Amino acid sequence: MEKLYEQICAAVREAGTIVLQATAEGKNVREKTSRHDLVTAYDARVQRFLQERLLALLPEAGFLGEEDGGRLESASAWRFIVDPIDGTMNFIRTLRRSCISVGLAQGERMEFGAVYDPYHDELFTAVRGAGAFLNGAPIHVSDCDMAHALVYIGSSPYYPDCIPQTFALAQKLTETCSDIRRSGSAALELCDVACGRVEAYFEYRLSPWDYAAGSLIVTEAGGKISALNGEALRFDQKCSVAAANALCHAPLLQMAEQAQQQTSQN
Ligand code: IPD
Ligand code: CA
Repeated sequence: MEKLYEQICAAVREAGTIVLQATAEGKNVREKTSRHDLVTAYDARVQRFLQERLLALLPEAGFLGEEDGGRLESASAWRFIVDPIDGTMNFIRTLRRSCISVGLAQGERMEFGAVYDPYHDELFTAVRGAGAFLNGAPIHVSDCDMAHALVYIGSSPYYPDCIPQTFALAQKLTETCSDIRRSGSAALELCDVACGRVEAYFEYRLSPWDYAAGSLIVTEAGGKISALNGEALRFDQKCSVAAANALCHAPLLQMAEQAQQQTSQN
């Protein structure tokens, strides 16, 4: 398997060069489901590249990608779960905060994850049971408590029904922790939790390609990740995500429950 994982990393890094070489004219930005949900020609191009390269490495695997053309119905237990460009809005606006995310699942269990930030040449990886790494060096979540935590909030931009709970929880966190941030790439937010740059991250609705690879990177780095109601993450449907170091996960879930009660009373 080690050779396969190395080959996946090589493909992910190569996909990063496609992102770095993108030109404004070539982006061809269009709305996908709404004015909040944009897509570029590069999202499709990177996905096509990865689909071809990854399935050549493991032909029996299924392929679930954010852009059209996925093979979700594959009978195989092995499945690639791919976000060709996570942080598309950042990419369009040249904020240099986007990444390529590739997870490899066997059934409902993530076995391998790679998240590559081409702008900083940072490759986060994790192999189930073998740890998490940044450019090959082991990483670990922080041991900071919630009172001193820096927390990423995700705004679930494609789902207006998530706005009340999101901002109720954001308010609780702002009152409780050190400060909050919003970065615009769920996969990189998970990697920042994993390497201890921030303590926690939540978002009320994400798709499996946003968190598949990052979820393994968080747990292999000693962190915890679940849905905001504490249930296990699902990789076959959209899900909320609560990721944190070992100290901050339970307080985050508690605050989410309070935020939920508060918004359902209103
Ligand atoms: C989005 C980003 C963003 C998050 C959205 C995601 P995309 O992914 O991860 O940070 O708030 O919910 O859908 O559309 O840029 O791949
Ligand atoms: Ca995404």
